[in-house]
Amino acid sequence: MAEKLWDGRFSEKTDKMVEDFTSSIEIDKRLYPYDIEGSIAHCRMLAKTAIISEADASELIEGLAAIKLEIERGKFRFDNSLEDIHMHIEARLIQKVGKVAQKLHTARSRNDQVALDVRMYLRDETLKTIKRLVLLTKIMVDLAKTHLDVVLPGYTHLQRAQPVLLSHHFMAYYEMFSRDIDRFKDGLKRINVLPLGSAALAGTTYPIDREHTARLLDFPKISANSIDAVSDRDFVIEFISAASICMVHLSRLSEEFILWSSSEFGFVELPDSFTTGSSIMPQKKNPDVPELVRGKTGRVFGDLVSLLTMMKSLPLSYNRDMQEDKTALFNTVDILSECIEIYIKMLPKLKINHEAMQQATSRGFLNATDMADYLVAGGMPFRQAHGCVGKAVAYASRLKKELHELTLEELQSFSSHIKKDIFDILTTDQMINRRTSFGGTASVCVKAAIKAAEKELKLKLMVS
Ligand code: ARG
Repeated sequence: MAEKLWDGRFSEKTDKMVEDFTSSIEIDKRLYPYDIEGSIAHCRMLAKTAIISEADASELIEGLAAIKLEIERGKFRFDNSLEDIHMHIEARLIQKVGKVAQKLHTARSRNDQVALDVRMYLRDETLKTIKRLVLLTKIMVDLAKTHLDVVLPGYTHLQRAQPVLLSHHFMAYYEMFSRDIDRFKDGLKRINVLPLGSAALAGTTYPIDREHTARLLDFPKISANSIDAVSDRDFVIEFISAASICMVHLSRLSEEFILWSSSEFGFVELPDSFTTGSSIMPQKKNPDVPELVRGKTGRVFGDLVSLLTMMKSLPLSYNRDMQEDKTALFNTVDILSECIEIYIKMLPKLKINHEAMQQATSRGFLNATDMADYLVAGGMPFRQAHGCVGKAVAYASRLKKELHELTLEELQSFSSHIKKDIFDILTTDQMINRRTSFGGTASVCVKAAIKAAEKELKLKLMVS
């Protein structure tokens, strides 16, 4: 059992069960690069302010760098009795460089240290998430560009409603993922605040220079209140919340692919390399990837609820409950990155069945609204036109026909306003291309949306 760094006032050894219960090393060891980088910056600041000597700082920094190598090479021993990553690194530093290592923790507490580590980690992960999402949105735009001539039924209530361009559908996902990017970017502003220097909760008596540490660690802002700095986990909640919304988008896309790849729809075929077979039914090709993305979404929501619940009754300032934040956060980061990445790989290999989509568009009275709009253009109030077309739909469906398959005489029996030109209006091409309202599905609008998206993406690709 390793010696504790805090046992001065204790007369009894910690119970082994308590050590295991309170230890977080298995979870928080992934913070080690940030913990070390943060400690190095802290040392530099301590030397600059003459709180420790330059010689001591150099020794500490050398030791910390050597520990980083040990961990990277798998040569570092982790042990529950040392609680967490912060204690592990400090204890090892003492072993390596001796007494001088005991100066590292001057003007610092694990409370501001862990807040710093999590912020540094999450800053990196947020940037990585944004990069992945930029790639994903680019793929959406590419798909929209390559399928500009494909039409499918647009649905409401999962009932065929009106025809839309498949490109328009893909661009809807472009919009969703773009909003996700904006949300993660916005969160960065609040992640990027240096808590170090708040010490345990009240600040410190040493003449530290927090601005200097902030510069060294590339933080544009330092926290304004030491109590808040050690007890704030809003930025973690915000990340998981943005991740939850992003998972909703991925899950809805997944649900569509699951439906669309069924023989009932037959709109898409998922690549063989991204599907699995059944151990009993030889004909099966299962959409496990989208199913698992949909399934994992619930786990991310769970992380959000668990963090909100964990925080809601905590009195200020730091409480040990907060150690649990990392389990939720890391789980969310892992799931989100894996799900985005698998989509980035799978989407370009998607096979689209144009005919099945076209076929589905031609049946189900998708042109009923257009017929009503036609009557309105002829002077009929919309409600009356709606009723009139309703009757025509009932009539046609008794004959197992579509509206455009009725004769002109049959159509005219519902309204004398109807002329021969109605048949132009009822074609899929017209239904799509007459919807030119901004953001509509007409080919010109979708092309303009793609152009705008490409412009936006160029900028995003440049910064990310
Ligand atoms: N492992 C702890 C955590 O993750 C570090 C902070 C411990 N602070 C304390 N006062 N015991 O929250």
